[in-house]
Amino acid sequence: MKLSNQPYKGTRDFFPPEKRVHDYIFSKMRETAHLYGYEAYDGPLLEEVDLYKAKSGEELINEQIYSFYDRGERFVAIRPEMTPTLARMVSRIHKEQSKPLRWYSIPNLMRYEKPQKGRLREHWQFNCDIFGAPSSTGEIEIVQLAITLMKNFGATENDFEILLNDRGIVDAIFTKQMNLESEKSHRLYKVLDKSKKVESLSFKKMVTELTLDARQEELFWNYYGCDSFEKIITLLNAIGEIDAVKNITSFADHAKHLEIDKFIKYDPSIVRGLDYYTGIVFEIFDKHPENARAICGGGSYANLLKIFGEDPLPGVGFGLGDVTLTDFLVTHNLMPDFSSPETEVYITFQTDDGLKFALNFATKLRAEKINCVVNLEPIKVKKLFSVAEKKGARFVTMIGTDEMASNTIQIKNMSTKEQHNISTLNIAELVRILK
Ligand code: HAM
Repeated sequence: MKLSNQPYKGTRDFFPPEKRVHDYIFSKMRETAHLYGYEAYDGPLLEEVDLYKAKSGEELINEQIYSFYDRGERFVAIRPEMTPTLARMVSRIHKEQSKPLRWYSIPNLMRYEKPQKGRLREHWQFNCDIFGAPSSTGEIEIVQLAITLMKNFGATENDFEILLNDRGIVDAIFTKQMNLESEKSHRLYKVLDKSKKVESLSFKKMVTELTLDARQEELFWNYYGCDSFEKIITLLNAIGEIDAVKNITSFADHAKHLEIDKFIKYDPSIVRGLDYYTGIVFEIFDKHPENARAICGGGSYANLLKIFGEDPLPGVGFGLGDVTLTDFLVTHNLMPDFSSPETEVYITFQTDDGLKFALNFATKLRAEKINCVVNLEPIKVKKLFSVAEKKGARFVTMIGTDEMASNTIQIKNMSTKEQHNISTLNIAELVRILK
């Protein structure tokens, strides 16, 4: 039987050009995390399924998790998200640590989803989380960090927006004002979470199917019509939800003060699919209609540590996926060209006896921390420029009989076409030209 050489459905092979894209986006992620003092962490690829059952939500558990029994009859899953692992790790050490804890990671995750634009079965996700920050300072820092990352890729407010809500508001309206019992409130949450993915008529039908009474329906649609901070604050004031007003006003004030308000829009349909969120929730969307999937999702979760029997320690964070981010960068022409590798010096020789000379020269350059690649067999001068170009070379060297006799090399700058004949003993001069 002939085996398929395609990767498993919904996963990707990363050939060098794709890997260069990955390295680029990961380096920007690390750089941005470091700018805010976030420390790197990592965890295992496998966790017990119970860890996700506790708080991740039914969609993840029932439809998306890759789970199996190991040889010791433990029911385990390939991580579909990082937050439960992070919470588990934080619960082990937080008592000895000064707060807040600021951590980041770029794990690969697997979810059994229907592969489509922006959705695969394996993706990499930049996670930044802060634990134990006072009141709403964690929320504002996390949202600002996500914006800084997008700006570090060259994006502006014309390219993306952050749609944000507060589960405290949704709870106040669903539970206190509409008086929904917890099961119905949970179902309304799920309907709301789907509202962006379905036509408005189907959404209305889904709400009707919940058989809300007339007063509940009216409140729900009033809430759903609040598409700005001003409108939701007016509604909350009118119905006397003063605590909810305080939280969202404080967030909006901070955002204004940091001049990031132009990126953020209040959106009543953002509630997030994961069950652990308790406060601010947000998603980043591409403004280009071609990319409808969220680039990033996050929020605050006050009680996740409780599942490990610990006192609550408030956490806030986000996950930003490589698939949607790459689509975003390509759509907005923000992705540099990674089609060729980057080579400083491409070393070629033109006669059969040139190999040793070329290898010695390469050793000297590497000792000076100059990246170089040796063409391992003789190459004709007329061919070598196209080969060097494919290797992304900045400089190409030529070594023929004359050069070997005089211990020199010909070195040519591929873009300026400037050419030098230099003694291989004069390393200082070589380095000056190359740098
Ligand atoms: P999430 O919304 O499930 O949140 O995922 C965050 C981001 O990961 C999404 O916005 C999307 O960019 C990417 N993503 C998720 N699933 C896929 C997929 N199947 N294919 C491609 N990309 C995907 C979480 O996972 C939370 N744990 C994030 C978090 C961290 N909240 C607090 N801290």
